[in-house]
Amino acid sequence: MIVIKTPDEIEAMRPTCRLAAQVLRMIAPHIQPGVTTQQLNDICHDYITAAGAYPSPLNYRGFPKSICTSINHQVCHGIPSERVLREGDIINVDITTYMNGYHGDTSHTFHVGKPTPKGDKIVQVAKECLDAGIRAVRPFGRLGDIGAAIEAHARKNRCSVVREYCGHGIGKSFHEDPAVLHYGRAGEGEILRPGMVFTVEPMINLGGPDIKHMPDKWTVVTKDHSLSAQFEHTLAITPHGIDVLTDLDGEYAAG
Ligand code: MF3
Ligand code: CO
Ligand code: CO
Repeated sequence: MIVIKTPDEIEAMRPTCRLAAQVLRMIAPHIQPGVTTQQLNDICHDYITAAGAYPSPLNYRGFPKSICTSINHQVCHGIPSERVLREGDIINVDITTYMNGYHGDTSHTFHVGKPTPKGDKIVQVAKECLDAGIRAVRPFGRLGDIGAAIEAHARKNRCSVVREYCGHGIGKSFHEDPAVLHYGRAGEGEILRPGMVFTVEPMINLGGPDIKHMPDKWTVVTKDHSLSAQFEHTLAITPHGIDVLTDLDGEYAAG
């Protein structure tokens, strides 16, 4: 069941979404060679709790940490640990906060030190895929428009789209309907109605689309060990367009 939010409910989601985006902005300068993902976790955890919010991943279905950190060929749901970041790594940091009764969810893939050519390519293509997906969202358009746009951009760049994980409705629950597939056909799927709030979060691989799970039961990696990158925003559909609730920079502002 897709929960349609009122304009007031969407306003009530704005603070948690803004906080999640602020965490990403705050953590960016800490992402340096020599830092551990546990240190990044602890800095984010303290920032989130100091803001009066809760880090949604912590204890979510048994997830043991407050953020997800996915390095290089790790696709998503990497668990912060004593692993030390090295020059040339790429790392996705996925932040979800719970505040005022609502979740907000956003992620970004960062370079550690100087980008490598392959790292640069996959991070750029993944960001462009998110942008292509968001640009395809129109009130009374279709869910399939989003996935079709993402898949077309990935293919044009000879990259692949992970199919096992998708974007999701979000609100009082971390993961709600609908499932927002990052592949598909334009004009198909649910009608995008004002009041829907969901994430778009394509996982894009430099090699093939296949994934496998690590023994920790959480970390998802590419089967062929190729690099993978991901970006995520939470957005609301309004009567006139979209409102990207985790966009601090006005990157997707109308006009
Ligand atoms: N933030 C992730 C998403 O975008 C979900 C993480 S679930 C966790 O949906 F348990 F791994 F934290
Ligand atoms: Co999400
Ligand atoms: Co997320």
